Amino acid sequence: MRPSRLLFALLPTIFTGVAGAGWEFVQNGTSGVLALEAIIVSPTLAIFFDFAGTGDPLTINGHPAWGAIWNLETNQATALDVFSDTFCASGGLLSNGTMVSVGGNFIPGSSSAGNGLMGVRIFEPCASADGAGCTLFDNPDLVHLSETRWYPSSLRIFDGSLMIVGGIHELTLFYNTDPVNSFEFFPSKDGAVPRPSPFLERTVPSNLFPRVFALPDGKVFMVANNQSIIYDIEAKTETILPDIPNGVRVTNPMDGSATLLPLSPPLYVPEVLVCGGSNSSDQIPPANLSTQDPASDQCSRITLTPAGIKKGWEVERMLEGRMMPEMILLPNGQVLIINGGQTGYGAMSVVGDQVGNSNADHAALTPSLYDSSAPLGHRISNKGLPTNTIARMYHSSVSLTPSGNLLLAGSNPNPNVNTTVKFPTEFRVQYLNPPYMFLERPTMAGVPTQIAFDSKFTVSVSIPRRVAAVSKIQVALMDLGFSSHAFHSSSRLVWLESTLSRDRKSLEITSPPNNRVYPPGPGYIFLTVGDTTSVGAHVMVGNGDSPPVADQGRRI
Ligand SMILES: *[C@@H]1O[C@H](CO)[C@@H](O)[C@H](O)[C@H]1NC(C)=O
Ligand SMILES: *[C@@H]1O[C@H](CO)[C@@H](O)[C@H](O)[C@H]1NC(C)=O
Ligand SMILES: *[C@@H]1O[C@H](CO)[C@@H](O)[C@H](O)[C@H]1NC(C)=O
Ligand SMILES: *[C@@H]1O[C@H](CO)[C@@H](O)[C@H](O)[C@H]1NC(C)=O
Ligand SMILES: *[C@@H]1O[C@H](CO)[C@@H](O)[C@H](O)[C@H]1NC(C)=O
Ligand SMILES: *[C@@H]1O[C@H](CO)[C@@H](O)[C@H](O)[C@H]1NC(C)=O
Repeated sequence: MRPSRLLFALLPTIFTGVAGAGWEFVQNGTSGVLALEAIIVSPTLAIFFDFAGTGDPLTINGHPAWGAIWNLETNQATALDVFSDTFCASGGLLSNGTMVSVGGNFIPGSSSAGNGLMGVRIFEPCASADGAGCTLFDNPDLVHLSETRWYPSSLRIFDGSLMIVGGIHELTLFYNTDPVNSFEFFPSKDGAVPRPSPFLERTVPSNLFPRVFALPDGKVFMVANNQSIIYDIEAKTETILPDIPNGVRVTNPMDGSATLLPLSPPLYVPEVLVCGGSNSSDQIPPANLSTQDPASDQCSRITLTPAGIKKGWEVERMLEGRMMPEMILLPNGQVLIINGGQTGYGAMSVVGDQVGNSNADHAALTPSLYDSSAPLGHRISNKGLPTNTIARMYHSSVSLTPSGNLLLAGSNPNPNVNTTVKFPTEFRVQYLNPPYMFLERPTMAGVPTQIAFDSKFTVSVSIPRRVAAVSKIQVALMDLGFSSHAFHSSSRLVWLESTLSRDRKSLEITSPPNNRVYPPGPGYIFLTVGDTTSVGAHVMVGNGDSPPVADQGRRI
C-alpha cells in the first residue's frame, strides 16, 4: 500500500442511509481527488480526474494528486500518477478497450502538472481487480492532439477511434471566446489535420462540450448552443437540423444535457432527448447574468429520420429547471435526470450574485426518471425517488456502475479546495441504489467475454421466483460513457433480441448487427426481468483490435 493511500484510508468516512425497499442514496468513502470527470474502466474500477491546481488531499510523489483509481468494491481511492493537467478534459474507451483522456489545461504555477491542453492520456485495459500495476501513459512529447483543446467532447465512432469535437484554445472564464472550431480523431486521421466545422463556428460563444452521438448509420448527431446537425464522417458534410425550440441553449456555459435514447432492433431508429440549460441570450455579458436566473425546465426530443426531422423537436417540461443536469441511461431503458442547479449557469466565479464562487444556485436534489415509452406529458416523474443531502453542482460526475447502481462524486464550483462556501469542494462519494439492489436479482452465467457482431450466443440465466411469471425480458448492451461537465459521452444502450428457453434457464441473445449500431469496444450486458436487473456482464464487442477497425457484421 502506498503511503498516500494509507493516509487516505485513515480519513473519516460518514455512512448515511439504511437499506430499504426503494431508491436510496448511500454515502461511502471519499474520492481523494475532486471527481470532475469519471469513467468506469473495468468491472471493479473507475477513474476520476480533476484540475491539477485544486490541491486535492490525496497525494502522489509528494504533491497533490489530480487523478485517482476508485475501487468500486472497497470504496477507496488510490492516487494515479498523471503528468499533464486534466482540467476539463474528456475521454472514452477505444475498440481495443483502452481508455483515452483527451484535452485539458495548463495554468503555469498552479501545480506541478505538465501542459495538458493537447493531452492524450492512455490507460490500457486493467486486468487486476484492484488496479494494482495499472498506470497511465501521459507523455505529450510523444502522443498529443493536433490542437490545444480545453472543454472538448469526445465520442467513440464506428471504427473504434475517438472523435474529438470543439473546445477552447486556452483558459477563459465563461463564453467560448477563443474557439477550436474543428474536429480531430485519436488515433489521428487526415494526416492529423483537424477538420473545420461551420457548425462550431455558428454556435459560439455557448458551445463548449458539444453533446455528440454516434448514430446507427455511422454518422454523428451534434447539438451545441441551440443548434443541431448531423455530421457525416465519411463524406465530411454537415446537415443542418432544426434548432432547439424556444431559444434554449444546452451547452457550456449554459449546460443542459442530452442523451441518445435506447436503440431497438430491427431498425435502431435514433431519437435524441435534450433537457435543461438556459433560454438566456448568449450575448449578455457574464456579469449581467445572475445565479438566480431560472434554468430551463424544457426537454426536447427528436426522431432522426427524414419524417422525424421534418416534424422537429417535441417539447415537454421537467418538474424543475436544471442547469448542468446529467442524463444517465438505465438498464431498463429509462433515463435518470440528476444533479445540477435550478438557477444560474455553468462555469464559476463570473456571473452576478455569486454564491461563494458558484454561478448556479438552488441545487436540484431530487432526481427524475424519464420513460421514453410513455405518452408525451407523462414521461417525467420523481415518484419514489429520494432527495439527496449533497449538492452536486459544477464539476461533479455520475455514472452507472457494472453492478447496476449509480456512482455520484464531485462538485466544486470553486477554483481550489473550499469548505467555507455554500457549495463546497465535495469529496464524499455516493451511490444511488435502484430498488432492485435490495431484491433478489436475475443472474447470467457463461456470458462470452468477447462477442462478434451479428451473432448469437446462449447464456444460462436464473430468474427470481418473484418475477417468474413476468414475460417481458429486456437485454441491454450498454456503454457506460465518460462523465464530464454534465455530459456522458459515448453513453449508449442497444436492446438485444433474446429468446428465453421453455424451462426459463437459458437465454439466446443476438448481438448488434454491426459496428455502427454499437461502436466496437467494451460494454456491459444487463438482463432485466420485470422490475429487477442483473449485474452487468463485461464484454468486448467486435474483434477487439486497435482503431481504426474495418466494418464488421451486417449492414442494415
Ligand atoms: C461501504 O463500502 C464497504 C466496502 O465495500 C462496505 O464494507 C461497507 O459495508 C459499506 N458501507 C455502507 C454504509 O454501505
Ligand atoms: C437560436 O439562437 C439564435 C441566436 O441567439 C437565435 O437567433 C434563434 O432564433 C434561436 N432559435 C430558436 C428556435 O429559438
Ligand atoms: C450590463 O450591466 C452594466 C452595469 O449595470 C450596464 O451598464 C450594461 O448596460 C449591461 N449590459 C447589458 C447588455 O445588459
Ligand atoms: C425562459 O425560461 C424560463 C424558465 O424556464 C421561463 O420562465 C420563461 O418563460 C422562458 N422564456 C421564454 C421567452 O421562453
Ligand atoms: C472560498 O471562497 C470564498 C468566496 O469566494 C472566498 O472568500 C474564500 O477565501 C475561499 N476560501 C479558500 C480557502 O479559498
Ligand atoms: C489501443 O489502441 C491505442 C491507439 O492505437 C493504443 O495506443 C493502445 O496501446 C492500444 N491498446 C491495446 C491494448 O492494444
